[in-house]
Amino acid sequence: MSAPCLAATVEQFGDASQLRVHEVPAPQPRAGQIVVQVAAAAINPIDVRRRSGYGRKLFGLMGAARLPLVLGSDFAGTICAVGPGVTGWREGDAVFGAKPPSRQGTHATHVALDAAHVLAQPAGIAPAQLATLPYNFLTVCRALAGAGITRDSVLGRKVLLHGASGGLGLIAIALLKQLGAHVTAVAGERGLAACGAAGADLVLDRRRHPLESLPRQFTATLNFAHWDDDAQLVSRLAPGAVGHATTVHPLLAQIDRYGIAGGALAALYCKRRSAAATPRGTRYAWTVFRPDRDALNWLAEYAVMIPAAPTLQAFRLIHVAAAHHYVEQRCAGRAVLLPSPL
Ligand SMILES: NC(=O)c1ccc[n+]([C@@H]2O[C@H](COP(=O)([O-])OP(=O)(O)OC[C@H]3O[C@@H](n4cnc5c(N)ncnc54)[C@H](OP(=O)(O)O)[C@@H]3O)[C@@H](O)[C@H]2O)c1
Repeated sequence: MSAPCLAATVEQFGDASQLRVHEVPAPQPRAGQIVVQVAAAAINPIDVRRRSGYGRKLFGLMGAARLPLVLGSDFAGTICAVGPGVTGWREGDAVFGAKPPSRQGTHATHVALDAAHVLAQPAGIAPAQLATLPYNFLTVCRALAGAGITRDSVLGRKVLLHGASGGLGLIAIALLKQLGAHVTAVAGERGLAACGAAGADLVLDRRRHPLESLPRQFTATLNFAHWDDDAQLVSRLAPGAVGHATTVHPLLAQIDRYGIAGGALAALYCKRRSAAATPRGTRYAWTVFRPDRDALNWLAEYAVMIPAAPTLQAFRLIHVAAAHHYVEQRCAGRAVLLPSPL
C-alpha cells in the first residue's frame, strides 16, 4: 500500500460539517480478511442518518458508533492485501460487496473486511454502479425472506411495493419479477417512470392512489417508504396472504430513545401490535440489513440484470459533505464516493 490511506470520518454526531477527510493508518487484514482499495462506495440513507447519531445505541453494541467513525457499507474496488487463512482471492482481484455496520466503513481509500463478504466484479459494469448494489440487494433479500416471498409463494400473485422508486424498491421490482410475481409499485410522481422501467406491472402515483384506496388483494406487501404507512399497507393483504416486511420500522429510534432494554421492549410491543393486524397465518417482519452468503450468491447471479440506478452522482472523497447534502435532499438515484487519493 504505497498511496496514503484516507478516510471520511464523523468527528461528532451532527450535520455534514462534522465530516473530515484525513490520513489514517493503513488497515491490516486479520485472519479471514482482505483489504480493498476502494474505487467507489455508495452513500445510502442510513449513512446520513448514522452521521447525525441515529441508531447509536444499538450500533454502539457492535462497536459501530464509536467516534471518530467511518461510515459506508458497500463498495467496489481491488484487493490490495490478503490476510491469513483466505483462499480464493489474491492481490489485484476486482471485487465488490458490503460490510456489516462498523466504525471502519467503506468511505475511505482502503477498507479491511471479511473475505466472505465480497464477490468478483462482473465484466462490463462500472465500479460506481456496482458499489450501489450490495447493501440494497442484501436488504431486499432479507425483506423478501422476512415476508415469506419465494417463487412458490408469489408466482402469478400480486405483491404491493411502497417506496418502489428508491434504491431498495427498484431492486425489489426486478427480483419480484424474476420470481414471477405481479408487482404493483407505489411511488411519488418523479419515480413512476423508473418503476415502469424496472418492470413493475402496475405503477401508481401515491398521491392519486392512496394506499387505503387499493383493494385488499395482495399476497405480500413491502414497505420501503415510511413507518406511518405500515398499518395501511398491511391492511391491503388478502386473507391467506404470505406476509409483509418493512425496512422503515422504529427499532433503532426506540432504542435511541428508551435505551437498549426499554427500547427493545417498546419495539417488541409495537411489532406485536402491528403483527396482530395481519391476516391469520401471515408473516410479519422488521427487516435489518445483514450480509448473507446465499444472498451474495444471488447477487452474483443477478448483478448483470439489476437495473442501473436512474441517476448516479459521483463525488470525490474530499467532497463527502456535498455528497451527504445530495442524499439529504432525497435526489433521485444514488450518491457514490470515488475515494481515489487526494
Ligand atoms: N432496516 C434496514 O436495515 C434498512 C436497510 C436499508 C434501507 N433501510 C431504509 O429503508 C428505506 C428505503 O431505503 P432506500 O435506500 O430505498 O431509500 P430511498 O432510495 O431514499 O427511497 C425511499 C423511497 O421511499 C419513498 N418515500 C420516502 N418517504 C416517504 C413518505 N413519507 N411517504 C411515501 N413515500 C416515501 C421515496 O419516494 P420519493 O422519492 O418520491 O419521496 C422513495 O421511493 C429508507 O428509509 C432506508 O433508511 C433500512
